[in-house]
Amino acid sequence: MPVVAVEGRPRTWAAHTPSSTYVLSAEEDGRVVQWYWGPRLPAAAVAEVAGDRVSGRFASGFRPDDDLVELLPVDGGRRWGVPSLQAVYEGGVRSVELTFDSAEFTAGRLDLVLLDPEYGLRVVLHLRVHDDSDVIERWVTATATTGPVRLLRLDSGSWPVPERADPVYLGVAGDWALETQPHRGPLPVGETTFTSRTGTTSHTANPWIMIGDAGEEHGRVYGVALAWSGSWRLTAQRRAEGEVAITAGFGHDGLAWDLAPGESLETPPALGLVTDGGYGAAGRAWHDYARRHVLPHPREVRPVLYNSWEATWFDVTEDGQLGLARRAAELGVELFVVDDGWFGGRVDDRRGLGDWWPNPERFPDGMRRLFDEVRKLGMRAGLWVEPEMVNPDSDLYRAHPDWVLHWPGRRRDTARNQLVLNYARPEVREWALGWLDRLAGDYRLDYFKWDMNRSFTQAGPDDLLWIGHTRGVYAIMDELRARHRGLRIESCSGGGGRIDFGMLRRTDVVWTSDNTDALERQRIQQGYSHLYPAGAMSCWVTDSPNPITGRRVPLRYRFHVAMAGALGVGGNLGEWTAGELAEAAAHIAAYKEIRPVVQQGRLYRLGGRPGGERSAVQYVHEDRVVVLAYNPFTDRRQAPWRLRLAGLEPEARYRDGDGRVWHGTTLMEHGLAVPSWWSSGDDYRSDLVVLTREP
Ligand code: GLA
Repeated sequence: MPVVAVEGRPRTWAAHTPSSTYVLSAEEDGRVVQWYWGPRLPAAAVAEVAGDRVSGRFASGFRPDDDLVELLPVDGGRRWGVPSLQAVYEGGVRSVELTFDSAEFTAGRLDLVLLDPEYGLRVVLHLRVHDDSDVIERWVTATATTGPVRLLRLDSGSWPVPERADPVYLGVAGDWALETQPHRGPLPVGETTFTSRTGTTSHTANPWIMIGDAGEEHGRVYGVALAWSGSWRLTAQRRAEGEVAITAGFGHDGLAWDLAPGESLETPPALGLVTDGGYGAAGRAWHDYARRHVLPHPREVRPVLYNSWEATWFDVTEDGQLGLARRAAELGVELFVVDDGWFGGRVDDRRGLGDWWPNPERFPDGMRRLFDEVRKLGMRAGLWVEPEMVNPDSDLYRAHPDWVLHWPGRRRDTARNQLVLNYARPEVREWALGWLDRLAGDYRLDYFKWDMNRSFTQAGPDDLLWIGHTRGVYAIMDELRARHRGLRIESCSGGGGRIDFGMLRRTDVVWTSDNTDALERQRIQQGYSHLYPAGAMSCWVTDSPNPITGRRVPLRYRFHVAMAGALGVGGNLGEWTAGELAEAAAHIAAYKEIRPVVQQGRLYRLGGRPGGERSAVQYVHEDRVVVLAYNPFTDRRQAPWRLRLAGLEPEARYRDGDGRVWHGTTLMEHGLAVPSWWSSGDDYRSDLVVLTREP
């Protein structure tokens, strides 16, 4: 019984997940407040926490009336924190006054209806839990009932974080080619906001935060994530008295969303999770949630992919691609993806975006022959597209200059020489679906790499397009998937600019970063791993020196870093030596052996500083354990370390690749001597260790 009414207290409910409980009530004055969020409580204890509050020292008119315990603090009345809902009614009236109207609840879901009858606003708070995940999903629907309502903010809800003595936050921030860099520190008093104003999830931050005071494998962690792929805003407030709450929602400051009478706006879900067991347990719970409730094909093994981008850049020809395809097939690659440069007049990044037919000079007879050959080589076929974009130098833009985001009388700023098509417009969506559907059907494509390479600018005239664009993209992806059941989609946005639970609901993998330098990738992958599962993390082995950083890294290390996710190859295979090709084939074969463990296993980050010093990641799935250990720099002063494993059965025995058998306890408490962490020698040493639990 995941959602139940609490006996003895009116309008009070408890939501139970397998190991947590969430208790809330709708108070007489219309506020919906949280009484408890923590480890699972027995039914009798629920009645004890509901209504039990210590009143503050200064419970007077000088300080807010506990708005940080509300699930949806509105801009109105005696509240001075960050509002989760801000509305302007007819005549410019603000100050929202909600009263409780009704509640509906079924096994997994609670809907609380609140009304502001005077000005005609209806707000529904939704809460949903699953019986196989500790993640709680909450979202909000606002409806203008009698008069127009302008919404300045409609968050998916606020998440009060039960008091912690010294709250520490963990989040990720970064940039292009430097995505998901972990940031951790004391949560400052005041307001800490992570946000994107780009129209996408963004490279600069990712929509989640964790609050706790925890280590990698111990301590309680509260996490909130937003399942949304457009602009967003997440604010963690910490009052000087100690209260903490996190409000998260779509959009960013300064937007105004107008609802006519009868119109509604539904937010994307914000997800809350409490775990004991440190950031490691939190990550594993998020990964489980992604596999059980987000990813469309979670149990499917991801194919080893080849992508031509870093091999040919814009210089795409049929012969060139075929040459790469033959080499890729010999390596054991299973999916061949043709990247940018195949269509319209696209010979560089200044032209052609929007003209989605094979470049007539490069593919005079179309691309069927190329894809047929790819299939004959035993691989699936994929194609890069960037459906939301147009170069001003394109037939599409010449025909439909009004389809792009723009304001009358304002410049149309380009970035990477391109403009953004407005997917909130039905005719733009219809056009996109038409050619994407045709391409997928005509070429029997198995895979689109869906790219989105620039941020919004001059986005007008209706602020609702900030939501409508993202929903439009979702709708096209959903429809394409429905029409082509075998089609898989990779989300890319100049690398990792659009990775989130909204996107993962309709894509199968994400391109983690344009930065394929193995060393820098380690830190990017570490940040990614806090929320998102390894099976959805696309990682390529590319050339050395790396085209972005110029760093030289041995092939083995590059493979071992890329094998930590969904492995791909993106190097210029035409220039790899016979020795390199043979080594690559061996790594790919080894990866195919371990990939169910990596892609679907429980992930343990075994310490160290990824990309900086010794580090390791471990995956456990059924009876197998995979460890990838790294040591990028030789330092003769380093003492040899054993690598202590985690998450094993203490009493069970595990056989290593040399046939030696170890107790789980030995591996976890004494540790394993892995060569890269042990002997001194060259830089960039790495190991792949596979252990199998004895029956
Ligand atoms: C973006 C992507 C790259 C590649 C190029 C093509 O930068 O992240 O992987 O597809 O676009 O222009």
